[in-house]
Amino acid sequence: MKVAVIGGTGKMGAGIARQLANGYDVIIGSRDPARAAQVARGMGARGAGYEDAARESDLAVLAIPYSSMGTAASLAKELAGKLVISVVNPLTLRGGLLHFALEGGSAAQQLAAMLPGSRVATAFNNVPARLLAGKVVPPMDILVAADTRETFEEAAKVVSSIPNLRPLHVGPLSEAEAVERITAVLANLAKLNGTKSLAARFVDG
Ligand SMILES: NC(=O)c1ccc[n+]([C@@H]2O[C@H](COP(=O)([O-])OP(=O)(O)OC[C@H]3O[C@@H](n4cnc5c(N)ncnc54)[C@H](OP(=O)(O)O)[C@@H]3O)[C@@H](O)[C@H]2O)c1
Repeated sequence: MKVAVIGGTGKMGAGIARQLANGYDVIIGSRDPARAAQVARGMGARGAGYEDAARESDLAVLAIPYSSMGTAASLAKELAGKLVISVVNPLTLRGGLLHFALEGGSAAQQLAAMLPGSRVATAFNNVPARLLAGKVVPPMDILVAADTRETFEEAAKVVSSIPNLRPLHVGPLSEAEAVERITAVLANLAKLNGTKSLAARFVDG
């Protein structure tokens, strides 16, 4: 199964690609195919331009900044009929803290509107990239917003392929705003309480 990580040269994309490369044929997508190939080397992955990566893939992870998310619209044809997992958080730094940058809605819903032929889900939004950089990731819960149970299960399978991660269905894509907002809360909690980074893990009871 081939997974394109669009923005796979970045902090988050490279972390996800590194983890997924254990179970999937990973294609790092970059605006610069040479940079993609360089990052892919040593990860057991390969590199390509965005368009080629998207076309060759069976599913994709979008890990580019919110400010450049419009780029995804140009991949609508290549990503049609496929699962697209958004890790994009529309956040802005103000007064030393991160804030949600949209008046309403979410990056994931905007992405779904750009990719009408794809099945869009959120996952990994709340995971700090540094926690994906090592060989083993710590136990974490991964909130997955998806409009149908089938799309949730498809995304959950990708999440579960990484040992220690537990996918949890947070509801339809309309809940993606809450998911994306949590990232700011966690980053601010880490900053204000003297820890490098925080990720979420819920207690079963
Ligand atoms: N960093 C984290 O801890 C973290 C955690 C959770 C979610 N996220 C989300 O993950 C996404 C990426 O964050 P990041 O920290 O990994 O950022 P990053 O290190 O800056 O990497 C983003 C990648 O996106 C590509 N890119 C940059 N500008 C672009 C543009 N104008 N058009 C198309 N592609 C562009 C770049 O790849 P090329 O130059 O190779 O094309 C770059 O490597 C963001 O949406 C962020 O909210 C990040």
